[in-house]
Amino acid sequence: MSTAILKVVDVDQRFAGLHALKHVSFELIEGEILGIIGPNGAGKSTLFNAIVGTVPPASGSIWFDGRNIVGLPTHRIAELGIAKTSQTVQVFDEMTALDNVAVAALLSQTTVAAARAAARGELEFWGLDGHAGTLAQDLPLAQRSLLELARAMMLHPRVLLVDEVMAGLNEIEVDDILDRLMRVNRERGVTLMVIEHNMRALMKISSRILALDYGAVLALGKPEDVSRHKQVIEAYLGVE
Ligand SMILES: Nc1ncnc2c1ncn2[C@@H]1O[C@H](COP(=O)(O)OP(=O)(O)OP(=O)(O)O)[C@@H](O)[C@H]1O
Ligand SMILES: [Mg+2]
Repeated sequence: MSTAILKVVDVDQRFAGLHALKHVSFELIEGEILGIIGPNGAGKSTLFNAIVGTVPPASGSIWFDGRNIVGLPTHRIAELGIAKTSQTVQVFDEMTALDNVAVAALLSQTTVAAARAAARGELEFWGLDGHAGTLAQDLPLAQRSLLELARAMMLHPRVLLVDEVMAGLNEIEVDDILDRLMRVNRERGVTLMVIEHNMRALMKISSRILALDYGAVLALGKPEDVSRHKQVIEAYLGVE
C-alpha cells in the first residue's frame, strides 16, 4: 500500500520575469527515496525552499499530514517533521562538530547535557564520532556534508530533503553517504527527497525519480524508466 506523506499541488513560483516553478504537482510516497534531477536552474532547490517555507510558493498548496503547510513559518514546518540540508554546507565554522549537532539537538532536549548526549549518538551514526572535538572549519568537505545531515536529523524529521550533499566528493565518499542515507530511510523510517546531479548515485538509492526542466515536471517514475525517457535524455543527459 502506498500512502502519500507529502502532496505538492499546482505549485508555482516566479522571480521577477523568471518562471522558476510551473504548476508542479506530485506525491511523495511514505517510506520512499525520491531522487530529483534536472539541469542547473531547473528549479530543484526552489522546490525544496517552497516545501520548507524559506521561500514560499507564489501559488499552489503543499499537503503534509492532512494540512496545507504553505504560509506556515519555517520553524513550524520543521516542527511538523520536514527538515532540509542546504546546497552549500551550512554549519557553524567556529564550533566543534559535537556542538554543531548539540545546538540542533537543543530544539528537542531540555538540558545541554541531554543535547550533547543525543548529539554524540547522531555523530556516531554518521561516522563522525572521531571528529566530535574538531572545529567544523577544520573538517574535510565530506565530513562537513555528513555534519549537516547529522544536524538535520536532530530535528527528528519524518521527511528529509537533501540538496546536493554529494557535490565535490569522490566515489568512496559518495558510496559512504549513500549507505548512510539508505540506513536513515530503512532503519529510521525517514522518507527522503534527494537532489543530485550524480546519476549513478541516484539510480542506486531512489525508488522513483522526478525530473524537472525549466521549472516543470518532465518525468516521474522508476529510475530505469526515467533514465530512458527521451526528453530527460535530451534535457539532462545531453545526448541527441
Ligand atoms: N530567491 C531567488 N530570487 C531570484 N531568483 C531565484 C531565487 N531562487 C532561485 N532563483 C532562480 O530560479 C531558477 C531556479 O533556481 P534553482 O536554484 O531552484 O535551480 P536548481 O535546479 O537548484 O539548479 P542547480 O542544479 O544549479 O542547483 C534559477 O534561474 C535561479 O537563478
Ligand atoms: Mg540547486
